[in-house]
Amino acid sequence: MDKAQQDALKKAAGIEAAKLVTDGMIAGLGTGSTVRFLVDELGRRVKEEGLQFTGVTTSRRTQEQAEGYGIKIVDIDDVDHIDVTIDGADEVDKNFNGIKGGGAALLWEKIVATNSNQIVWIVDESKVVDTIGKFPLPVEVIPFGAGHVIKKFEDKGYKPVLRLDAEGKPVRTDENNYVVDLHLERIDHPQDLAEDLITTVGVVEHGLFLNMVDKVIVGDPNGPRVMTNGNK
Ligand code: 5RP
Repeated sequence: MDKAQQDALKKAAGIEAAKLVTDGMIAGLGTGSTVRFLVDELGRRVKEEGLQFTGVTTSRRTQEQAEGYGIKIVDIDDVDHIDVTIDGADEVDKNFNGIKGGGAALLWEKIVATNSNQIVWIVDESKVVDTIGKFPLPVEVIPFGAGHVIKKFEDKGYKPVLRLDAEGKPVRTDENNYVVDLHLERIDHPQDLAEDLITTVGVVEHGLFLNMVDKVIVGDPNGPRVMTNGNK
């Protein structure tokens, strides 16, 4: 699949998911190129249909885009609930275990997700996999002592790589932390790995989102299809 085809599938999934946002809702808005299409569509509906909703965003990038459309964005602590959060994902398997954080927003994404009544992911079909882990697993790490955390990951065979920007400097998250990508190739025991990562001092959060999502809208050449999680 080339990039244009992939973008068309992402856009179709984003437009489909935008239908889930209705007047008066509080909606969590994720991060990434697929979510950009979602926010474009929500912005169109605000302008052309008078849709009124409040958004909570998972990154400053999404906040800027949404506010550019006149969408009202509030701080997560200014709402007592979030009706639905729509976000992208890097990989998802048939057990609804996924990897997120390709866009370095995993920490806010997980905080928003865990405070949402419903979680929906929008992906193109290439993200649906048998076993997660081919996509390098992002881990958000405090800069102080990050070298030691990376060494511990190396010793465990996790193949960590500190994420750098185009200028060769460490990428900083919205919380000013580093991202370390683990090149694991496959993750057969995601629960065990999640437990190991989150109990490593210096790790703030990891990109394993295990059985959290309620519904995945998959951009498919035949039209968007929905995978519903019956085990939540
Ligand atoms: C950002 C994310 C994104 O949702 C994920 O990387 C998917 O991005 P895209 O829609 O650009 O493929 O987790 O931290």
